[in-house]
Amino acid sequence: MGRQLSSQVMILLVIVNSSLQVKYEFVLDNEHVLSECQDTPPGALSYDSLFDFSEMALTMSDAGVTLSGNATTVWDIKPTDRIQGSANILYFDRGTWQPTVLNIITKNFCATMYDERQFWYKFWTRHIINADEVKDNCLKVAGTKLVMEPYLIKCEFGFDAPLRQGRHKIVVGFRAFDEHNVERKYNICFEITGEFYKL
Ligand SMILES: *[C@@H]1O[C@H](CO)[C@@H](O)[C@H](O)[C@H]1NC(C)=O
Repeated sequence: MGRQLSSQVMILLVIVNSSLQVKYEFVLDNEHVLSECQDTPPGALSYDSLFDFSEMALTMSDAGVTLSGNATTVWDIKPTDRIQGSANILYFDRGTWQPTVLNIITKNFCATMYDERQFWYKFWTRHIINADEVKDNCLKVAGTKLVMEPYLIKCEFGFDAPLRQGRHKIVVGFRAFDEHNVERKYNICFEITGEFYKL
């Protein structure tokens, strides 16, 4: 069951090395895609404090996980806030999570939410059907419904750094700052865990 599940729960991340073109496959280790952070920063809430997923479904097939439905924002921040987004890739080595050089930070997530070079665009925001409608609200106006086109979760992006095979996690964080650049009490943290395999 476990093995069967993990071969079905697969997303493709193609990592292109500028000199070598090494491709990797990322296999999710749970069908829920997102999980709670293990090391939570102070004030961290999980993915369910960012979105209400009650209108969303994840369905598995041999090809991987297909996402469909809507996500409605529930994070209690202000429309004038700035959201900083980050994605850090960690490697599981002999029982502990080790940092890698693969860390992405965006000072103004909302300004780059639909930038096609961004990690989240390939994974997620390119599939928001009502992007024009929700563009200004971003993740800052609770109750904003992101209508998603059904899609198979996979993405391709390039890194200029080599990657080890084996268990990794992508730790995603969102932090909000008010107009005086003071951080809001609560931030969002969640993880996507799986394994990288060289193709
Ligand atoms: C998603 O939202 C759209 C627009 O409001 C609605 O028509 C649709 O039924 C919703 N999907 C689900 C699965 O609830």
